[in-house]
Amino acid sequence: MNVLVTGGAGYIGSHTCLELLESGCGVIVIDNLCNSNPKSLQRVQELTGKTLKFYQGDVRDGALLKTIFQENPIDCVIHFAGLKCVPESVAKPWAYYDNNLNTTLVLTKAMQEAGVKRIIFSSSATVYAADNTMPLKETSRTGDCTNPYGWTKYMTEQILSGIAHADEKWSVALLRYFNPIGAHESGRIGEDPRGIPNNLMPYITQVAVGRRDHLSVYGNDYNTPDGTGVRDYLHVVDLAKGHVAAVKYVLAHTGCEAFNLGTGVGYSVLDMVNTFVQVNGVPVPYEIGPRRPGDVAVCYAAPDKSAQVLGWKAERTLADMCRDSWNWQSKNSTGYDD
Ligand code: NAD
Ligand code: UD1
Repeated sequence: MNVLVTGGAGYIGSHTCLELLESGCGVIVIDNLCNSNPKSLQRVQELTGKTLKFYQGDVRDGALLKTIFQENPIDCVIHFAGLKCVPESVAKPWAYYDNNLNTTLVLTKAMQEAGVKRIIFSSSATVYAADNTMPLKETSRTGDCTNPYGWTKYMTEQILSGIAHADEKWSVALLRYFNPIGAHESGRIGEDPRGIPNNLMPYITQVAVGRRDHLSVYGNDYNTPDGTGVRDYLHVVDLAKGHVAAVKYVLAHTGCEAFNLGTGVGYSVLDMVNTFVQVNGVPVPYEIGPRRPGDVAVCYAAPDKSAQVLGWKAERTLADMCRDSWNWQSKNSTGYDD
């Protein structure tokens, strides 16, 4: 069984390629490396002792996609390729709508022409409207996104749902990720953000390794147990295994279904800092700062549908996530540039 992985050199993509190879799938990657390093794929091959096929190129390049589908028998596509930085999407909406929507349009057209009608899409908890009660179910209200990045995820869900509606042979799994953190336990692959990290865990690890002075905690006056924001963090290896489960699902079903990939448990910013310090024995100086515009107080998943339908459940603990994030960062202090 062969899987085409768009954006496979990135953070979640590289971990998923590893799990796909371990599960016996053939893997073909297309990535333009705009936010990744090809060393991730070299290391995936070293870790698994298996090879994958890599095409360096843009998913919006229809001619290249046609070649890929002609050269490889592909059963299913996992579509990670996209831009993911929320503040950058506010500053550069054209780049985000162009990349995140046109990748999907060009890709699905090439798939339709090649007769490949199974796709798994990297959606996000950001598609849920802010006024929902927790935990978020797949049936909770979506839309009212607060930034162009969120809208691209929402719109892509609409596009893929429309395709599955128009042609009943299509099988679409919309995977709504909560907050992926951590790294493969080897410490050979992990998250390698360019510039100043926006997300909490890469910021914590860069403070711990001495690349940043201190963490700013964005507000301690939320209506949460310790006043700091609460999120559903999940280990990237659990998330990667969720994609292997989704591959099995799309092979056996048609139609379009959304699935939450989260643990169902929320932790606060201070829970994260305290667990990281306790597990790894390294200091993480922090200061309480103002709230970040656009943040919600609490966000966590109801993961029941994924457990029942995909047979998938996150297994790794917060301590595992903190240990593996630090293992990766401490062995690769400047990421793949080391
Ligand atoms: P990432 O930036 O590490 O990986 C994305 C990959 O796609 C990169 O390797 C990049 O070079 C590639 N890419 C981007 N545009 C491309 C294009 N036009 N053609 C070819 N390759 C292209 O990000 P990630 O954290 O691994 O996220 C993967 C997907 O999951 C993204 O779609 C992201 O929006 C989504 N997602 C991520 C998170 C998160 O917290 N990391 C949460 C929810 C959803
Ligand atoms: C961010 C994105 C969201 C995306 C999600 C997935 C924004 C506004 N939202 O959300 O669209 O789907 O990542 O990864 O960027 N925090 C600090 N200090 C920091 C960084 C974060 O206190 O330096 C806090 C935040 O206020 C939040 C928590 O840590 O309470 C997690 O933040 P982050 O990792 O950015 O994730 P999300 O806020 O869930």
